[in-house]
Amino acid sequence: MVIVGAGPSGLVLGNLLRASGIDTLILERASRDQVWTRARAGFLSAHSARVLTEHGLAAGMLRNGRSHDVCAFRDANGEFTLRYGQLGRGEVHTVYPQQHLVTDLISEYLSRGGELRFGATVTEVDPQTATVRYRDAQGDGEVAGRFLAGCDGGNGVTRQAVAAASVSRHTRDHGITWLAVLAQAPQSMAAVTYALHDNGFAGHMARSPEVTRYYLQIPPTDTPAAWPDERIWAELGVRMRTEEFGPLRQGPITERQPVRLRSDVLDPLQHARLFLAGDAASLISPSAAKGANLAIMAAEVLAGALADALLRDDERALAAYSRTCLPRIWRAQEFSHWMINLLHGPLGADPAADFQRALCRARLDSLRDSRAHQDFFAENYVGI
Ligand code: APR
Repeated sequence: MVIVGAGPSGLVLGNLLRASGIDTLILERASRDQVWTRARAGFLSAHSARVLTEHGLAAGMLRNGRSHDVCAFRDANGEFTLRYGQLGRGEVHTVYPQQHLVTDLISEYLSRGGELRFGATVTEVDPQTATVRYRDAQGDGEVAGRFLAGCDGGNGVTRQAVAAASVSRHTRDHGITWLAVLAQAPQSMAAVTYALHDNGFAGHMARSPEVTRYYLQIPPTDTPAAWPDERIWAELGVRMRTEEFGPLRQGPITERQPVRLRSDVLDPLQHARLFLAGDAASLISPSAAKGANLAIMAAEVLAGALADALLRDDERALAAYSRTCLPRIWRAQEFSHWMINLLHGPLGADPAADFQRALCRARLDSLRDSRAHQDFFAENYVGI
């Protein structure tokens, strides 16, 4: 079994297949150091925590992850918090930085006897023969498996190979850009905080005791260079209304990366003997922290289906792979889209923008006041 990509989807898949005794090779473009240190997502859903725990992949998360069950919303009317762990199904997040999870998954995968080549870039994929060509420090190589798993992210070669076949592609550019910021600073608030402001959205999310993730909505044409540290902290202060709610704990900014809010889902998630999982299968905007959780969900479903096919000659679950995953993917897309509409009033002074901003405020008021609305939020915020 050949897996392209050693992110959360490829590594969970590889670990589960190894646990079933299936031979696996993961080809990963980046170096081991790059994979170990890449800071990405960090909020694991209850479902992800269950999958990792049930398959013996949760030791690091259980030791160092932090339970998170409250989020806050700020706007011109003040602040309110939602204890989502006490709403909906009563599920909570576990905050565990993705690079730590990936590091754990790599060492467990290797100890299960899995093969992993870093610095190996897949250049060509043939879904019919389940063959990939790759390039590494030794030169060009070719390898084939019974099946291929495309776990190489949203811009990878496997997604392109499936998209080039006769599949449907559902894509949307939400017209919004965030500056994703990592600050070498402890969290400033106990909760994930979403701030709505006429200047645009701002978000605050804990990562670890020393590192905090912030998001700032910026004009799509802005480059990171337009946002030096002082400007980021000043604008975060305005949108987070620090005069009213107290200062932010500042530190050096170690990452400032524009993120275009986009959604892109392929249907089906496979072509011939190539199966996609994670961002390769469906890109989702980061507004509801679903990307890594969808990746883990799909990897578990695919691992079970591949084990049936490879060990028991039963391809029914594999044939149903897209049908199993797509409703969950669309449910997450729908909630993520709902969050986008909640958090972003249009920027600008025309009457239509004014009307939209009033709708945003009304939606937020409803979330503050309606228990039914809060239960809906909680169930979808943590659920997959
Ligand atoms: N050859 C080999 N490896 C590749 C290639 C290639 N041609 N192209 C990409 N890769 C590797 C990347 O270097 C990366 O390590 O595939 C991996 C894909 O990992 P992720 O982008 O983390 O994707 P996935 O496992 O689907 O996880 C999705 O993780 O990082 C978050 O925002 C992301 O939340 C989403 C989730």
